Amino acid sequence: MQDSTDQTTRASRAGGPSVKTVVVPAAGMGTRFLPATKTVPKELLPVVDTPGIELIAEEAAALGAQRLAVVVAPNKEEIMRHFGEFAELQRIMLARGKDEQAAKVGRANGLIEAVAVTQDQPLGLGHAVGCAEAALDEDEDVVAVMLPDDLVLPVGVMEKMVAVREQLGGSVLCAFNVTRDEVFNYGVFDVEEPVDGFDGFEVRRVRGMVEKPAVEDAPSTLVATGRYLLDRGVFDALRRIEPGKGGELQLTDAIELMISEGHPVHVVVHEGKRHDLGNPGGYIPANVDFGLRDAKYGPALYTAVKKIIADYEAEHPGLAGGASAQD
Ligand code: G1P
Repeated sequence: MQDSTDQTTRASRAGGPSVKTVVVPAAGMGTRFLPATKTVPKELLPVVDTPGIELIAEEAAALGAQRLAVVVAPNKEEIMRHFGEFAELQRIMLARGKDEQAAKVGRANGLIEAVAVTQDQPLGLGHAVGCAEAALDEDEDVVAVMLPDDLVLPVGVMEKMVAVREQLGGSVLCAFNVTRDEVFNYGVFDVEEPVDGFDGFEVRRVRGMVEKPAVEDAPSTLVATGRYLLDRGVFDALRRIEPGKGGELQLTDAIELMISEGHPVHVVVHEGKRHDLGNPGGYIPANVDFGLRDAKYGPALYTAVKKIIADYEAEHPGLAGGASAQD
């Protein structure tokens, strides 16, 4: 089947901005963070002092995007307030000589234009992305999606994905290798051998994709990690899929549909780190990791964490020597 790939590849080679809008689905209920999420949206919980969604905005701005289309549930619109001006708070910080805090207050607002897209019902990630169609300009032929639960580090994987799309066309996703017993949490790729011609990172063509398979059905241990560069045709595919895993409209199923119709999909295999801010088990290590690297808090945190671990190991003699609680 013919698609718009050739045209879009030419457009981006012609030097136009390749990603203008980044779609950020943020309508989830944050169940795994209750009771905090009774009143605070999960995306506003801080990594050290900065809400996860601001880290995503920073990554989108670094990519050169101009607009963040934040998909929110009707009762979660306060997320958008974080991107407001807060001139009075900034003024107070400056008057008190707290220049660093004043800069932090103004940062989100200055990074990127954030617009809210309302998802009326929680019908799944695919539905959320579909809701953002009207937020894109007509000349945008690529839909970038960043899931705020996923921190993919070091930042810069989207730039690699843009380079792959420029060379190979189609859609490009980010893959991460997990252990086989973790695959059931993710969209899992069936991939071909690496494609030649990319320096410093691995690119593979995707034969198929399946959402949260049972371990024995998983086609590989390469999973989707919350960074997507999709051809605009994904909106059409999203209109044609049926509810899938969990009774929800899955983005994975729309991508699988596009693949089955001949649309080229590749993955960049991410070799760095990933933090999952979507549950306390991933959120806490993310805070420790960012905290240790923080100039202000890092040194004391290092001492404190070492002490906590030493105490813990003393209470659990079997653990010392490197075994983890799961081993
Ligand atoms: C979503 C996607 C899944 C992907 C994951 C990455 O799942 O549906 O394909 O692997 O994000 O974090 P969720 O974590 O929202 O259940």
